[in-house]
Order: sequence, then structure tokens, then C-alpha cells
Amino acid sequence: MKILSTTGLKKYFPIRSGVFLQVTGYVRALESTDFEINEGETIGIVGESGCGKSTLGRTLVKIYEPTAGTITYYDPLGASHDISKGLGRDVRQTFRKDVQMIFQNPFDSLNPRMTIRDIIREPIETHKLFDDVAAMDERVAELLTRVGLYPEYAQRYPHEFSGGQRQRIAVARSIAVNPRLLICDEPTSALDVSVQSQIINLLKEIQRETGMSLIFISHNLDVVHHMSDRIMVMYLGNVVESAPASELFDEPAHPYTRALMSAIPSWNPKDRKLAKVKLEGEPPSPINPPSGCPFHPRCPHAMELCHEIKPEPQEVNDGHLCACHLHARADAEVAAR
Ligand SMILES: Nc1ncnc2c1ncn2[C@@H]1O[C@H](COP(=O)(O)OP(=O)(O)OP(=O)(O)O)[C@@H](O)[C@H]1O
Ligand code: SF4
Ligand SMILES: [Mg+2]
Repeated sequence: MKILSTTGLKKYFPIRSGVFLQVTGYVRALESTDFEINEGETIGIVGESGCGKSTLGRTLVKIYEPTAGTITYYDPLGASHDISKGLGRDVRQTFRKDVQMIFQNPFDSLNPRMTIRDIIREPIETHKLFDDVAAMDERVAELLTRVGLYPEYAQRYPHEFSGGQRQRIAVARSIAVNPRLLICDEPTSALDVSVQSQIINLLKEIQRETGMSLIFISHNLDVVHHMSDRIMVMYLGNVVESAPASELFDEPAHPYTRALMSAIPSWNPKDRKLAKVKLEGEPPSPINPPSGCPFHPRCPHAMELCHEIKPEPQEVNDGHLCACHLHARADAEVAAR
């Protein structure tokens, strides 16, 4: 059963300047990001800094309003709701409970003036999961234990904890209301390498126990590989490739995906067609993106066509989509005529 899907989703941030703060341009943070996530599934989202990963996560949980397109939310009974224009009263409560997000920096995301008990209790109270205080406190203790912390820590404040412990508290808070989907935006990148895998394993264990879905955002393809059923590769606001995790590693189709993989020391392509690709330079600005294929200024295979026509995602294999003219040349050339 699906939980969320998007169609034609775009997010542009206006750039304002001058005395009257007129809109003089847009940061095109999300351009083409159609996808869907099913119950129990883990989708990894990867791409370089600034490609729109966080914007996608934040747009999905309605921190940002989309500029265009549709986000469809499927409630636990399977009924679909278009939430792109706002959360109607009928779905607000269910959506807010079903879809949770944890952020990159556990130093910012926990209120420093609240005790751990109050931080974890807040969503439980908001969603009225328990009537009496004793039951709520019991749930807080249970959650702290689940994330590998002592229940006595409930009385303490965030500053008394390390980064890894704070991220465990953020995980406890996010799973307190039994969400069906947890969006994790680089949950380990602010942490010491030694604790990163502990948090990843914790999330995987919780997912196994609860059956919740995960969207796992990272700039590290290696981390995402171990977490995900499916991986979406983003470049300049576009999903350029999407495939089952193992297939993406065995048969990456997009030159950009291959370039990301080439940076992983353990990735050793046996197939000569999948030779390593060195990624040169920085991604272009999303304020003034290139014409045609967004990757063409850095792509070693760029053709004339790539400068003019943006490739649409095409199925290169069952459930494997790639937006590159190398994989759809015949169609694209017809379209170009
Ligand atoms: N609130 C905002 N206002 C204006 N521009 C924004 C805003 N949030 C993000 N952007 C811009 O949108 C683009 C995408 O940013 P985003 O944070 O989604 O990228 P990211 O892939 O998460 O990068 P990182 O790996 O560095 O976290 C960037 O150019 C960024 O500067
Ligand atoms: S469409 Fe062209 S420029 Fe874009 S990735 Fe494919 S070959 Fe490279
Ligand atoms: Mg980000």
C-alpha cells in the first residue's frame, strides 16, 4: 500500500532584491522529482550538496509549500488525499502522526529549555495517545530504552548529551507516535564516524520491528546502499536515476550515478562499459540551470542533443528509471526533429 506519491512536484524559492524587495529570480530547488513510497519500503535519496534533497524532504512533510505539482497522501484506510495545497482539517491529524522527520543536526532540533521527558511527551500529548500521565511517562521510558538510553535520562536537558545521544532522543521523539513514514535528513552527518553506524543500525532495527517506511537522505551513496530498497539519485533538483539498490550498484545507467559511484573506494566495476567517471567541478547554480540536460556541462558523454533537450525519465529495466539521452536516443531524436 502506498503512503505518499508526487506528480510534477516543483519548489522554487523566490530571490528578492532592491528597496521594494521585488522578485528578481528563483532558486529552482526541485524541478522533476516524481516518486512514490510504499509501506515498509526504504528509499534512499542521494546527490551532491544543494541538489534539493532537504527541500524534497521538507516539502513532503509540508514545512514548505510546493510551487507546482501534487503530493498525494494515502491514509491508513487507503483513501488518497491531495495535500499539495494544504492539509485539510480531515487529514491534518492523521498526516502529522503518520509522517515524521528527523534532521541533520541534533544540536538544533531539540529545544534546549525542555527536559527529555517533555521533548518526547510533546507529540504523544498532541496526538492524545494516552489519557493519563503515568501511561505517558511509561511510554517515554520505553522509548528511551528502545533507543539505547537509560529511562532516568528523562529528567535531563539536551545539553547534557553527546551528539549521538541527542540523535537517539530525536529518534525516540519521532517514533513516539508510531509513524508510518519517517524521513531522515542526513541523520548521521553531524556525528562522529564512530557513532554514525550505531544510529543507522538503530533506525534499521526499529524499521524491522515496526514495519514503518523510511526515506533516508544522504550525500553518501555507500551509506544509502546499505539502508535502502530503492535509491533515487538527484542532480540540480531532478531525479536523474531511480532503481532497486542492488541494481543501481550493479548496473548504474546515468553518467552522474557512475561518477558518484566512482568516488566509493569499494566500487569496482567489472564491466568495462561501467568504467569509473571522474566528477569535475561544481554543480551549476539552480538559479540559472543549464539548458537541456542539467548534467551536460560536466558529462563526459554529452552530445549536441544534450545541450538542447532535457531527457525525461525512461524505464531502462523493470522499475529502473534513468533520465539520459544515452538510454533513450531513438525517442529523443524523433522528438528533436
Ligand atoms: N529556504 C530557502 N530559501 C532559499 N533557497 C533555499 C532554501 N532552502 C534551500 N534553498 C536552496 O535550494 C537549493 C537546494 O537546497 P537543499 O538544502 O535542498 O539541498 P541539499 O541537497 O539538501 O544540500 P545539502 O547536501 O548541502 O544538505 C540550494 O541551492 C539552496 O541554496
Ligand atoms: S543526457 Fe547527455 S549530458 Fe545528460 S547525462 Fe545523458 S549523455 Fe550526459
Ligand atoms: Mg540537505
